[in-house]
Amino acid sequence: MEKFDVEKLVRENIKKLKSYSSARSEYRGNAEVFIDANENAYGSPSEENYNRYPDPLQWQLKQQISNIKGVPPQNIFVGNGSDEVIDLALRIFCEPKKDNVIICPPTYGMYKVCANINDVEAREVFLTPDFQLDVEGILSATDEQTKLLFICSPNNPTGNDLNRMDIELLLNNFSGLVLIDEAYINFSMQKTFIPELVEYENLIVMQTLSKAWGLAGLRLGLAFASEIILDLFNKVKPPYNINQSSQQLAIKALANIEEVNNNIKNIVQQRNWVHDQLQQFKFVQIIYSSDANFILVKVDDADKLYQYLLMNRIIVRNRSKEPLCENCIRITIGTEEENQKLINALKNYA
Ligand SMILES: Cc1ncc(COP(=O)(O)O)c(C=O)c1O
Repeated sequence: MEKFDVEKLVRENIKKLKSYSSARSEYRGNAEVFIDANENAYGSPSEENYNRYPDPLQWQLKQQISNIKGVPPQNIFVGNGSDEVIDLALRIFCEPKKDNVIICPPTYGMYKVCANINDVEAREVFLTPDFQLDVEGILSATDEQTKLLFICSPNNPTGNDLNRMDIELLLNNFSGLVLIDEAYINFSMQKTFIPELVEYENLIVMQTLSKAWGLAGLRLGLAFASEIILDLFNKVKPPYNINQSSQQLAIKALANIEEVNNNIKNIVQQRNWVHDQLQQFKFVQIIYSSDANFILVKVDDADKLYQYLLMNRIIVRNRSKEPLCENCIRITIGTEEENQKLINALKNYA
């Protein structure tokens, strides 16, 4: 394969784009009087002062993520949730109405939604019946206009790790960018692809603070990639995409790694417990093995079960309409008490 050149994948308008230069990104140093950004110098009517614009590139937060992940800060991008990362990738690389991306359903719904919003064709190459990548199918669905391949491992909603060798094969043979979404990696035995960034220039690894880190409310999604790729992300993102309070709260939270590891351990233990408990029910046909913080279950009648649980004030996700997921519901692992409530409710389901 010819040498990878990310420039060839970038949209013309983005190549030409002169990005907005914010007041806080122009000045670095030790000034005393900041009267450059039309802020309110008198303060804010809140406990913390939020009258100043935040660091547009979140260097303190990135330094801390860097210490945890072992990736230099300049190879880290922080988005307003992973959804911002997905949207930026489409806006930077895909010409609307002309380029296309590949997604592998059943998978996380936002890849397709973001593609649709950007008027970019999402080519669907379904997973195999055992929820693995159809490598041949993916490669043959690819053409000159295919810019991105979305891979989710562990995959949502199926919960399983995708075979590492298949992903490597695609990294070696796919001519566009491969975006590996590792939102659930901390619940899995699978190793992250982050160390492979040095080998593959066409790789973007995405993670999030919403799952294992328990910070979904702060909206912090992460992308790890080469500086060339992340320079483009920084050029296109809104100048202050991560607000000050999210940055501050995340910096504090990231110091509690032991608590996070303990939560992960408990969630995995509870996942095994729920898996075992589900085996007693006749209406349960398949309990798919999970490497994430949820379990996909095939039942005799998913709509009926969903309604029954709803009546019992328990909300699960009905995934029946997804390809390969007929009569499947997805159950997120809750607290021990919540999981017990679910199993008790299921015992009374006829
Ligand atoms: C595979 C996957 N990626 C990303 C996300 C969203 O992450 P964030 O909260 O960072 O937007 C989800 C959320 O459910 C997900 O399942």
